[in-house]
Amino acid sequence: MTSSPQSSALASARLAARLGVEHAFIQAPMAGVSTPEMAAAVSNAGGLGSLGVGYLPPDAVRQLARRVRELTDRPFALNLFAPQPAPALDADSPMWGVLARAHATLGLEPPRPSAWSLPPFDEQVDAVLESDARVFSFTFGIPPASVLARLRAAGRVLLGTATTVHEARLLEAAGVDGIVAQGSEAGGHRGTFAGPFEDAMVGTLALVPQMVDAVGLPVVASGGLMDGRGIAAARLLGAAGVQLGTAFLLCPESGASEAYQAALRSAREDGTGVIRAFSGRPARGLVTDFSREVEASAAPLPFPLQHGATTPLRAAAAARGDARFLAMWAGQGVTLARRVPAGELTRALVADAERRLRGGG
Ligand SMILES: Cc1cc2nc3c(=O)[nH]c(=O)nc-3n(C[C@H](O)[C@H](O)[C@H](O)COP(=O)(O)O)c2cc1C
Repeated sequence: MTSSPQSSALASARLAARLGVEHAFIQAPMAGVSTPEMAAAVSNAGGLGSLGVGYLPPDAVRQLARRVRELTDRPFALNLFAPQPAPALDADSPMWGVLARAHATLGLEPPRPSAWSLPPFDEQVDAVLESDARVFSFTFGIPPASVLARLRAAGRVLLGTATTVHEARLLEAAGVDGIVAQGSEAGGHRGTFAGPFEDAMVGTLALVPQMVDAVGLPVVASGGLMDGRGIAAARLLGAAGVQLGTAFLLCPESGASEAYQAALRSAREDGTGVIRAFSGRPARGLVTDFSREVEASAAPLPFPLQHGATTPLRAAAAARGDARFLAMWAGQGVTLARRVPAGELTRALVADAERRLRGGG
């Protein structure tokens, strides 16, 4: 299949209609950073705002979804992590010593090894179903068929995340409505679920056209798209839509702390890396001395245990505005992020991309 500007425009219009929005432009769900204010501003500007609620208990999911609804009557998306096998806790891991040294730097008691788990997935799904989020997106795998069937029966539009063509085929077989192609430039956790993450570091430029050719579903390009140039390029590769995360990190509606935002503003183009230091799962973020030390000295605990183990450290660092111990997810396009209100940014990016696609340069 080849992509002409006409077929791209048609695919984009079809996806927008399915999502119930004006433009097939999605603000990425960003656990801990996307806010109801951000999602509503994007939806009000004609895109699809999303909330990443993977870490949150059902009541918090309900509350945030209600808040979005107070701010917009347009469609929005809720996003969860597909359930993961619960790993065993290794109380003797050298990681505890590494974390104890970091705790000491901040004057905290040494960490106490304890198991940590995500809220029960089925209850999170109940909360999603109680909300009127039109779109349900997910990453890290494929939720059980019974869950997808419940969501589908309730009329929700399903978007799954794939980092390889193989994963896209698995998602297509599971019956999703569209696939978010997550290129290796992307900020945040790798969505990889069908093989080692190192084998799934495919850039957006290579991933999107191969996925478009392989599956019969709309493909949403994500990873490294920061402005009209990137969006237009993704559409020319055959993407029906786009999903941008890092571009929204500096918006006034962003939940990123001041220290995180300051670090983003002074980040270099080569300042990100894929690290497991904070959650145990590979994620692209700003590389720090602490993330380097963790990766060099001990194997991070498996996800989500490392997330639980670093929670007190990250919380104390956030409270003190100390970026040394923060997880600061960001994609490779980080230096192109701007402090512009989310609605204004959405309108400007959509208009710029459309102009370029019409040949306006
Ligand atoms: C701070 C941050 C948090 C993220 N959290 C999630 C999440 O909770 N769920 C998800 O599906 N993707 C998450 N992502 C990944 C995005 O969905 C998307 O793949 C990525 O932002 C696209 O690349 P870009 O950051 O270069 O735009 C996150 C990304 C960032 C930057």
